[in-house]
Amino acid sequence: MTNSFFIKTYGCQMNVYDTEKIVEIMTREGFQRSLNIEDSDVAIFNTCHIREKAAEKLYSDLGRIAIYKENKIKSGKKMQIVVTGCVAQAEGDEIKKRNKSVDLIFGPQNYHTIVDALKKKLYGNTFTEFLCDQKFETLTTSTKKETSKLVTIQEGCDKFCSFCVVPYTRGAEYSRKVEGIFNEVKELVEIGAKEITLLGQNVSSYKSSVFEKKIKVEVNLAKLLKIISRIDGLERIRYLTSHPNDIDDDLISQHASNEKLMPFLHLPIQSGSNKILKKMNRNHTKSDYINLVKRIKSKIRDMAFSSDFIVGYPGESDDDFNQTLDLIDNVRFASSYSFKYSPRPGTLSSLKHPNIVDDNTASSRLQKLQSLLNQQQNEFNSEFVGNIEEVLFTENGKLENQYVGRTKYLQPVHVFSKSNIIGKTLKVHLRDLTSFSFHGSIKS
Ligand code: SAH
Ligand code: SF4
Ligand code: F3S
Repeated sequence: MTNSFFIKTYGCQMNVYDTEKIVEIMTREGFQRSLNIEDSDVAIFNTCHIREKAAEKLYSDLGRIAIYKENKIKSGKKMQIVVTGCVAQAEGDEIKKRNKSVDLIFGPQNYHTIVDALKKKLYGNTFTEFLCDQKFETLTTSTKKETSKLVTIQEGCDKFCSFCVVPYTRGAEYSRKVEGIFNEVKELVEIGAKEITLLGQNVSSYKSSVFEKKIKVEVNLAKLLKIISRIDGLERIRYLTSHPNDIDDDLISQHASNEKLMPFLHLPIQSGSNKILKKMNRNHTKSDYINLVKRIKSKIRDMAFSSDFIVGYPGESDDDFNQTLDLIDNVRFASSYSFKYSPRPGTLSSLKHPNIVDDNTASSRLQKLQSLLNQQQNEFNSEFVGNIEEVLFTENGKLENQYVGRTKYLQPVHVFSKSNIIGKTLKVHLRDLTSFSFHGSIKS
C-alpha cells in the first residue's frame, strides 16, 4: 500500500474527535488508513498529557515503532513518525530528545497542517502555535456514518486548577463559531447521526454571538443547545465537561424545557474537602457543589450526575479524604471517574510539591472511593430493573443478532433483534442487570 497511515489515539474524547478529523484530512488528500502500524508509511500518535501514565505510554510505544522504522529503512522503504496532541504541545523538545526517529510534532491547534508538512518534507519541525480559528475553518465534517457523534464546540481552559495541564496543552479558552457548529451537527444528522455530544474542556463557559434580525445576540451554552435542538432528525443532545462555577439558570431552564437534552450531567468536583479544593484552585466549596446539585434537582427531578475525583492530592489528610466520601454519600452519583493524583510538569501543584501523599495511602484511598462509587452506580442502576426505558441503539453486540444501545442516563443495554435496529430509539423492557449493563427485550 502506498501513502498509507496509521493513527493511535490516547486520552479524552476531544482527542477522539481530533483523530477523526485527522483521518478526514489525510483521506481527503489521498492517504489510506491502515490498521496495521508496521505496514504504514506514516504513523501518527495523537497523545494525552493528563497523567504521567498517559504520557509514558507514548514513549514506550515510540521505542517499539523506532525499531519498525529502522527495519523499513534497511529494506529500502520509508516511514514517517508524527506526534500530535497534548504531549506534543507540552513537551515537543523532550519527545525529540528521547526518540530521534520522530519526524514531525503538531500541537492540538496545528494538526490541520499535517499533510502540507508531509508534502513539503518539513521533517524535524515542531508546530505548536495556537491557531484555533484557522484550524476550525479548515476542518470538514466527518463522512463516517454513526448514530452517536462528538462535536467540539470549545477548547482550552482559563481556570488553571493547580494540578491540570490542559490550560498549557490546549491553550486559552476558545469557543467555536455558532454557524460552524450548527452546520457540522446538521451535516452529521443528515448522514444518520441521532445523538450529538458537544465537547469542550469547559463547555459550560461557551461564549459566542450570532446576528438575529441584524441585532448581535450573545450565545451561551443554553442558547447554543436551543439553536442546535431545532435540527430535525436530531434526537438526543449531550455535552461535556461542565465546571460547577459556570452552570447558570439559563442552562438549568434549558434542561427543564428542551426534550432533546438528556437528563445527565457530568460535573467534576475532584475533592470534597474545602481545604483541598482551595489548594486545587477550584474556586468552589463542597457546599457550593451540593447546593448546585440540589438546585438542579429541584427543577429537573430525574437529572442524574457523574463526576471526576482525584485522591492523594498533596496535603490530603484522612479527614480531607473522608470529606470526599461524605460528599459522595450526600450527592449519590450515577457513575464517576476517579484517579490517583499525578504531578504534572509545569503545573502549580508540581512546582510547589508539598506533602506528597505516599503511594500506598493514595492507592488504598482510591480503592475505597471506587468501591463506594461502584456501589452507588449499582444502586442507581438497580432501580431501573423491570422498567421500560427508551434506548438509542448505536452498535452491534458481540453475539449474533445482538445490539447495544444506551438509555437517557448512558446505561448500556443489550438486546436481541432479527432486524437491524442501529440508529433506532426503541422502548425496551430492562429485564436484568449484570455488572453495569442491562439485558432487555424490545417492546413492540
Ligand atoms: N475540564 C474538566 C476535566 C479535565 S481532565 C474539568 O474541569 O474537570 C479530566 C480529569 O482528569 C479531571 O477532571 C481530573 O479528575 C483528572 N486529572 C486532571 N489532572 C490530573 C492530575 N494531575 N492527576 C490526576 N488526575 C488528573
Ligand atoms: Fe483542567 Fe481545571 Fe480547566 Fe478542568 S477546569 S480543564 S481540571 S484546569
Ligand atoms: Fe489528555 Fe489533552 Fe484530553 S491532556 S485528557 S488529550 S485535553
